[in-house]
Amino acid sequence: MNLKLDKSSKLYEEANLYTPGGVHTSIRNVEPHLVFNRAEGAYIYDVDGNRYIDYQAAFGPFILGHNNRYVNSKVIENLSREDLFGTGTTELEIELSKLICKHVPSAEQVLFCNSGSEATYHAIRLSRAITERTKIIKFQGCYHGWHDYVARNMLSPWDKIGKRDPGSAGMLDEAIDNTLICTFNDLEDVEQTFKQNQGQIAALIVEPIPHNIGCILPQSGFLAGLRKLCSEYGALLIFDEVITGFRHDLGGFQKIAGITPDITTMGKAMANGFPIAAIAGKKEYMSRFNTQPGGDVWFAGTYNGHAVGTSAALATMQLMETAPVHKHVFRLGDRVRVGIRDILDRLGIEGYVAGFGSVWTTYFMNFEPKNYIDLQHNDAEFYVSFRKKLLEKGIFKLPMNLKRNHISYSHTEADIDYTLDVIEAVLREMKK
Ligand SMILES: Cc1ncc(COP(=O)(O)O)c(C=O)c1O
Repeated sequence: MNLKLDKSSKLYEEANLYTPGGVHTSIRNVEPHLVFNRAEGAYIYDVDGNRYIDYQAAFGPFILGHNNRYVNSKVIENLSREDLFGTGTTELEIELSKLICKHVPSAEQVLFCNSGSEATYHAIRLSRAITERTKIIKFQGCYHGWHDYVARNMLSPWDKIGKRDPGSAGMLDEAIDNTLICTFNDLEDVEQTFKQNQGQIAALIVEPIPHNIGCILPQSGFLAGLRKLCSEYGALLIFDEVITGFRHDLGGFQKIAGITPDITTMGKAMANGFPIAAIAGKKEYMSRFNTQPGGDVWFAGTYNGHAVGTSAALATMQLMETAPVHKHVFRLGDRVRVGIRDILDRLGIEGYVAGFGSVWTTYFMNFEPKNYIDLQHNDAEFYVSFRKKLLEKGIFKLPMNLKRNHISYSHTEADIDYTLDVIEAVLREMKK
């Protein structure tokens, strides 16, 4: 390790005294253990003064870049007037709801919460109430949050693919066993599962692009097939757009794909790093929530609709409406993908550069993976050590297998040039 990390190491030891593992989300516990204290635009800085071009982007919220001046100023401006009332309605909530319903095709009505996990929890409970059924379908490798309904078969060990693989001790057996696992891009598997569980499946939840395992694109007809099967078997289709929503289009990936789910969950890029998430869907379904008098599906949260999150989301979406945010991140995404493909070809390294818009990753395998099963062919050791070496040279991609990278509106052509130069140098070195 060439980086100077003295202060980080010392502070990490201190953090461990007070916090198990010294981090506040399990997946943050990676080596090297960095302690950060500054973020601006495309860059993050650790306490030793090392600067990194940030492609990790805190798992995806930063579509505009860190500490966006406009978003921050809107948050501060609104906070000088209001914060949280815990009763009634705010103008910020109304304005933001209107904007989401304007852009997201499936959104006739919307409710705000604070995290993607809350949103998917509400979506599933709502589906169960509507259909009076218990089971749900999720896909191997997809992640929808930490709660019992969905925390199984995420980054499963290879011998557990499709088998019973709860993500945590302490989960309820009933929750684990009522979540059925299917293979992404395999409509036959989904149809079989519906047939074998006739009249029992409340919902199918899917990341329309499974970004939690990098970037696996839905094959032509797959999402349309899911839509058709859900309608045929009376289950609700939930698009979990916590990553894809807003990052790929203001209307979510559903707008791009032309497929309208029954319920959508959103978060992350919605507010450029500020805490807010949302669940949206048809009015007929949303009015089952007990925010509507007579509704029978519980919906609550002390911090729901806080001025910090609503202001940030409004400002972020307004910027996306008026500035060429998506054009910029899509162009740089294409540049980086083409650039890495060229490098791999030049160096004769086997790899598949996957991505969509601002998101990309390089799998070290010789074909396009279409689901988690295929990803067994990715050379995980090479993948992680490639990312570690980039990190040492100031390019921050999470040094873990199957993780993706994100470009923001703050990344520049020069950042991409530099990134490609470093990638070439590192791969050349690794090839030796
Ligand atoms: C697709 C998807 N859904 C839900 C979640 C959970 O969101 P949160 O971490 O805000 O609870 C995540 C988080 O990474 C996600 O990627």
